[in-house]
Amino acid sequence: MLGLPETAGPLPHKVLVTGATGRVGRVLRRKLAGRYQVLRLADIVPLEAGPDEEVCRLDVTDPATIAAALEGIDCVVHLAGQAVEADWTVLFDKNIMGVANLFEAAREKGVERVVFTSSHHAVGFYRRDAVIGNDVAPRPDSRYGVSKVFGEALGRLYADKYGLAVACIRIGVVRPRPEDLRHLSVWISEDDFARLVARCIEAPRYHYLMLYGVSANPRAFWTNPDADKIGYVPQDSAEDHAAGLAERPTGHGAVTALFQGGYYCAAEFAGDPSQVD
Ligand SMILES: NC(=O)c1ccc[n+]([C@@H]2O[C@H](COP(=O)([O-])OP(=O)(O)OC[C@H]3O[C@@H](n4cnc5c(N)ncnc54)[C@H](O)[C@@H]3O)[C@@H](O)[C@H]2O)c1
Repeated sequence: MLGLPETAGPLPHKVLVTGATGRVGRVLRRKLAGRYQVLRLADIVPLEAGPDEEVCRLDVTDPATIAAALEGIDCVVHLAGQAVEADWTVLFDKNIMGVANLFEAAREKGVERVVFTSSHHAVGFYRRDAVIGNDVAPRPDSRYGVSKVFGEALGRLYADKYGLAVACIRIGVVRPRPEDLRHLSVWISEDDFARLVARCIEAPRYHYLMLYGVSANPRAFWTNPDADKIGYVPQDSAEDHAAGLAERPTGHGAVTALFQGGYYCAAEFAGDPSQVD
């Protein structure tokens, strides 16, 4: 189903997915079912275990619950937290302290890998006519984007200083189909997202990866050299769904249309677009 080689039985990995009741977590739950020796699902929202699953309650603001969730795990896929723009207090609790708690617990428990879900909003103020790689300076387009830059930097610290293998995925947008014109550049299909995460879990040992979570879109804003290193080969293209798509209507439409982050750039915008080159 994933377009990956069939396995004779579950692979030996012991995987924890945090934020498992969310939009992306539900995709991974479905698509990674039965693939690993342990698939443990965690969320602040109660979960009921299905066949071949373990579940537990996790609050990223409570280190004791993280430590319990990580017991016996060798790879964490960290989705839990604040997934859209919010006030600083919310972002601080979930995406700053929550992510710090997660990495620290992973270090203490001897977890080998952390797959951290960042966002393209970490680099949203690059212009749409630029194609950027994974080595550009951050240009967050929101408080949320800044919180993702923090997670990426923390991942780098835990890779370099403590020897964790860390993969950061700057997700474009995971949806069944692209929903507006910008999505033709940033969309990743649910199948491709599962393929990418599976490669992050299963690829031979790496140190630190900065990946874009994107399908094989001809209009992509990004090159993805680290994806090649782990053998991620997207199978889907947003272009197959292009008919009838239009720019998402927002205030500051010109700002939305100019930058990769789209309406995240336009929200609260009071600057001079010509200075944001
Ligand atoms: N969906 C996308 O297209 C997209 C795009 C870019 C980045 N991302 C990132 O991917 C991850 C998942 O996104 P999503 O769309 O599934 O978000 P979501 O909001 O649907 O899911 C987030 C999950 O985190 C859980 N959660 C919230 N607070 C928590 C806490 N204190 N402790 C434990 N769990 C808590 C929620 O219950 C929920 O299940 C996020 O980190 C998000 O920033 C998603």
